[in-house]
Amino acid sequence: MTDTLRIGCAVDAFALDDPAYRDAIARLFTVVTAENAMKFLLLRPDRDTYDFANADRIMEFAEAEGKAVRGHTLAWHSQLSEWVADAPAEERAGILRDHIDTVVGRYRGRIEQWDVVNEALDDDAQPRESPWFEAMGIDYIADAFRWAHEADPSARLFLNDYNVEDLCPKSDAYYELAKQLLANGVPLHGFGIQGHRIVGDPPTSMRENLQRFADLGLEVALTEVDVRMPVTEVEHASDVQLAAQAADYRTMIEAARAVPACTSFVLWGLSDAHSWIPETFAGFGAAHVFDEALRPKPAFEAVFSDTVGPSYAKEPVLR
Ligand code: XIL
Repeated sequence: MTDTLRIGCAVDAFALDDPAYRDAIARLFTVVTAENAMKFLLLRPDRDTYDFANADRIMEFAEAEGKAVRGHTLAWHSQLSEWVADAPAEERAGILRDHIDTVVGRYRGRIEQWDVVNEALDDDAQPRESPWFEAMGIDYIADAFRWAHEADPSARLFLNDYNVEDLCPKSDAYYELAKQLLANGVPLHGFGIQGHRIVGDPPTSMRENLQRFADLGLEVALTEVDVRMPVTEVEHASDVQLAAQAADYRTMIEAARAVPACTSFVLWGLSDAHSWIPETFAGFGAAHVFDEALRPKPAFEAVFSDTVGPSYAKEPVLR
């Protein structure tokens, strides 16, 4: 079986100091994303400073291990330094351009895919409010793509968002946006579906959705996959829930495999031991493919059983 779909993981720069974590990422995945280290807030504590220390650590790790890198992310409303909103509106295009030139330029030729604009639409499929949109209008999207392309002509440039797994009003709006950007000659190369899901509610039309973007000539990717579940102190990830979770992961990876233009399937974190879910969604957890004790869950088998590439011993691989 040939397998062109690369399986990846979001990586935490500090966790790379843990040899077990580093080794697991190195052995299991062929693509990595910086979970936080390449975000505006982390790179730009103030207007005059670029702090690349953690982003560089992830790049160096990836290159030493021969992993592809997805860059995440350039224009986003969240994890955006407060000084941007405080800057006069007429200066913001210059700020964004400088940011993109500097960050994309630093890693020119080394980052395969960039999430150029993240979460451009809100839950009503309207342009999302942000200091960029406020200052530049909807054109900030096209501008960001053009600037990123100038800074690294070889990088594949993506739109990326959540709640767009299925055919739905929000993914319809992205489909129209993508068509319009392409018609205007904007260097858009890919559409990223984050894939943050709640257990027991798998996507039902992901394959068709991925395929319609592919039919526009775009690459597609699952960029931030996790499947959270309600957890309480009494009941923590029952076998029934774990099986349902595995089924949901399987639904997504099967859709991804069914579409040749789908190039990556990236998990948003390695294990339940270090997860963004509990602090973001109160009462939810257990979203990842390894548990808190770093043992593989049924979801691990769902993702990796058909995977050609890095091998996996059936025993716990992390400790
Ligand atoms: C999350 C990280 O996982 C957290 O560590 C951080 O505190 C907040 O952001 N959509 C995205 C990701 O595009 O960047 C977010 O990552 C999760 C939702």
